[in-house]
Amino acid sequence: MSEKSSEFKGFYKLSIDERVKKVSEFSDLTDEDAEVLRRAGALGLDSAARMIENVIGTFELPLGVAVNFRINGKDYLVPMAIEEPSVVAASSKIAGVARLKGGIEASTTDPIMIAQIQLTDMADPEAAGDKILSAKAELVAYANEQDPMLVKFGGGARDLEVRIIDTRRGPNVVTHLLVDCRDAMGANAVNTMAEALAPRIEDLTGGRVYLRILSNLADRRLARAKAVFDKEALGGEGVVDGILEAYEFADADPYRAATHNKGIMNGIIAVVRATGNDTRAVEAGAHSFAAQTGRYRSLTRFEKTDDGHLMGEIELPMAVGLIGGATAVHPTAKLAVKILGVKTASELGGIIAAVGLVQNVAALRALASEGIQRGHMALHARNVAATAGAPPELVDEIVKRMIDEKKVRMDRAKELIEELSK
Ligand code: MEV
Repeated sequence: MSEKSSEFKGFYKLSIDERVKKVSEFSDLTDEDAEVLRRAGALGLDSAARMIENVIGTFELPLGVAVNFRINGKDYLVPMAIEEPSVVAASSKIAGVARLKGGIEASTTDPIMIAQIQLTDMADPEAAGDKILSAKAELVAYANEQDPMLVKFGGGARDLEVRIIDTRRGPNVVTHLLVDCRDAMGANAVNTMAEALAPRIEDLTGGRVYLRILSNLADRRLARAKAVFDKEALGGEGVVDGILEAYEFADADPYRAATHNKGIMNGIIAVVRATGNDTRAVEAGAHSFAAQTGRYRSLTRFEKTDDGHLMGEIELPMAVGLIGGATAVHPTAKLAVKILGVKTASELGGIIAAVGLVQNVAALRALASEGIQRGHMALHARNVAATAGAPPELVDEIVKRMIDEKKVRMDRAKELIEELSK
């Protein structure tokens, strides 16, 4: 049998049906498989095909709504798109705990993104940097000519900085253009400006520019959230102490910090995704920011208040927007924004930070008390029971028995179905 080839000329020119046919041949898909691909949900295949290349289907995730959020004195329902059980429930529960003490305070810096322009081949990098800085006003003005709309809405290039970076191939003179992106995530605006400035920087310095691209370490575009979590509602002062131990562990040990911050990102990314924003940009920003002191650390900080409650805060880069990108075209993302009722990217950023904070408290509370598995188990057991073929009227009983017996397994579910069906 000849080996199948993944080399296709002009795959992108095929219709979606033709592509599905090709993939079906390559991967032995059945008619039912192809039917799954055709079920495109709210986005629809045609819109999907306008978003990315070589589309053959869409990919759905559960969309849940976290309740109980009160942020800066306003109530929100928070849409979360995520495949992991317990995240939405955990957020809702701990948002309710924060409510007892008045809710969460959130804030953001100005929405400043950084574009980097990498200049190489400089014999005297300091002198090149000085030349760039002395042309700052002209360069910033020229950057703003690239995006009159952004300027009209109150944004635009604000400032320019120069950094000298030593690399194995010699010094780089790296220009940072600081751009206020208002309600856009801003990648397009910022990259266009960086590309426009590159030839001018080459002319000024006689050097050679290579990269012209935004930085995802968006540390001029930060979101912060802060709240007090009632000790009784968390389970007592022992639990508060457990959370503080967990926090100190994470802040001191990158192995633990990675997992601790992953839990934060469970909440953050679910909202970033639901609102059609770039999850990878926010992930990259968060993790690089967490390592900014030279050690990878916790994105949150905790302490005990004088009366024994838990005080928590979070700060991280938050490159999200409300205009442009998938947020503007994906019908479910548009709806998520409507459910949230946010009017600015900054308001959205504050909410996302708040979700990250409560998600972290939820995970640490569970870890420091009953452990994480109990919460996970109920949903997991439901899945196991359903997959084993439990009839709807028996699911609750089977779930209960499997959990009581600590045997949440397919074989046990099947035995219980037999037993209880008699
Ligand atoms: C699981 O998705 C997230 C946790 O591991 C986070 C943490 O350990 O803090 C529970």
